Amino acid sequence: MSAYEIRVFCPATIANVSCGFDVLGLALDAVGDEMVVRKTVEKGIKITKLEGQNLPLETLQNVAGVAGLAFLAACDYEGGFEIEIYKKIKAGSGIGSSAASSTGAVWAMNELIGKPFSPLELVKFAMEGERLASGVPHADNVAPALFGGFTLVRSYIPLDVVKINTPSELYATVIHPQIEVKTSDSRRILKTTISLEDGIKQWGNVGGLIAGLFTEDYDLISRSLEDHIVEPIRSILIPGFDSVKQKALDNGALGSGISGSGPSIFALSKGEETAKNVAKAMTEVYDKIGIDYDIHVSKINSEGIKII
Ligand code: HSE
Repeated sequence: MSAYEIRVFCPATIANVSCGFDVLGLALDAVGDEMVVRKTVEKGIKITKLEGQNLPLETLQNVAGVAGLAFLAACDYEGGFEIEIYKKIKAGSGIGSSAASSTGAVWAMNELIGKPFSPLELVKFAMEGERLASGVPHADNVAPALFGGFTLVRSYIPLDVVKINTPSELYATVIHPQIEVKTSDSRRILKTTISLEDGIKQWGNVGGLIAGLFTEDYDLISRSLEDHIVEPIRSILIPGFDSVKQKALDNGALGSGISGSGPSIFALSKGEETAKNVAKAMTEVYDKIGIDYDIHVSKINSEGIKII
């Protein structure tokens, strides 16, 4: 007999990874939400508990609810699901809070009814949660949460997601200054066209980063962690961004940039010790400016969502 309820860990994620706006992402190990999902005889989706953040419980206003409804609409399962959400990821922090809830819901539902859907199909359902959260169904947070590791959204139409190798010594440091930046706002300020010159630099770096990840060439990864398109515009929304980034690089990070739509700032390092030194250097900047923060040092999570 299949399980009636499961508890899952849903990882936080870093989208864009500097050069890959809306296409690259990675999953974190040290920070994530927990959810309990249970089957019900009653049809539909009910969010029965939401702890840790002030977010709506109404199914149609909750990203897990909306993703869950997309899942239900696509399958012939006769019953429904109840969802409890224990948020550890702050909404608006830039480390995939909405993606964790959307993916956790559909991944757990899929497990509970015998896995009728592939991870790629689950990405599509979870993207509906992202559409509710930001107005745009981007997949660069939900894909790494579902697949684990690094992922590339090679194409949106049709959806094509590629799992990328994660070098074993790679660690992420993420600092979240305690200000909220809504993804919808930080998307609105972006230009809708780019110059050919910037395009050339950007796709060179995307290719370089992917090659560096597969060959575990840390120098190539480092050279490729550059963003010529989005970071120059968005960084003005994040106090202290330039100093935090510079400090991270000065202390040995391979690269640093805005995590997703911000305000969190991430750095990637070779080895945990360097990642911890980078964390210390980043916190010193905000201690000086007088802005509160959360800080995380994490291995890259290679498996994605899991039962706990
Ligand atoms: N690619 C999205 C953006 C990620 O940068 O708007 C949001 O987490």
